[in-house]
Amino acid sequence: MSEKPLTGGSSTRRPFLAGNWKMFKTGDQAVAFVKEFVPLVGNLSDRDVALAVPATALQGVAEAAKGSGVIVGAQNLHWEKEGAFTGEISADMIVGAGATMVLIGHSERRQFFGDTDGWVSKKLAAAVSAGLLAVVCVGETLAEREAGKTFEVLASQLKGSMAGFVPKDEKRLILAYEPVWAIGTGKTATKEEAQETQAFIRKELSALGLPGQSLRILYGGSVKPDNAGALMAQPDIDGLLVGGASLKADSFAKIVNFG
Ligand code: 13P
Repeated sequence: MSEKPLTGGSSTRRPFLAGNWKMFKTGDQAVAFVKEFVPLVGNLSDRDVALAVPATALQGVAEAAKGSGVIVGAQNLHWEKEGAFTGEISADMIVGAGATMVLIGHSERRQFFGDTDGWVSKKLAAAVSAGLLAVVCVGETLAEREAGKTFEVLASQLKGSMAGFVPKDEKRLILAYEPVWAIGTGKTATKEEAQETQAFIRKELSALGLPGQSLRILYGGSVKPDNAGALMAQPDIDGLLVGGASLKADSFAKIVNFG
């Protein structure tokens, strides 16, 4: 792949295929993945490919991916530049490791580590000011969906998470819709459910004064090689955020090569 400009929003909403490795792979395993993966996705100039890797693998993966066009990112950050925050990493540390992207507000952060919409908005501001591309995640739980509260929950998450974000920074922002009940469960949202919800998110972003029509919105939750194409055919699904199926080079390459 050729080097492409790092951009969030774009008039064409070029497909964005991202893997999220979560807490999997040592540094060596991560580098071995990149060496196997890059040749499988060579010469794709019509889509963006990204990997969100563990902090310990950032530098090695960034070096291994150099020149390939694959975007390398972290899975979380702290909003302060530095300080007594044991276990945390800052935006500058991510940049210093050679990475250019960060996931923010993933549902596992929200569920297990207490990330709130307020924190997400502070993390987003820190990421943007360091020049990182931020992938902000939102999504409802099964109980919320069954109670008919999906849109209410998403509207509230978006309002809180985007507080303080300004439209001029749209090139630094991508949204990801990940229904919590579809993550790691093998239960994908149907393409119709995903499309309906993503269209709602786009409308909400516009209502918040953001460029909803040009921002890219990814879908995540049990994406596999055999459902990637149908999801990507939906008009408001601009990309995929892939967990389990991004851990093996051949399966993630099949997803990246959809269509
Ligand atoms: P799975 O693809 O394993 O369901 O994970 C989705 C996810 O959380 C990506 O961020």
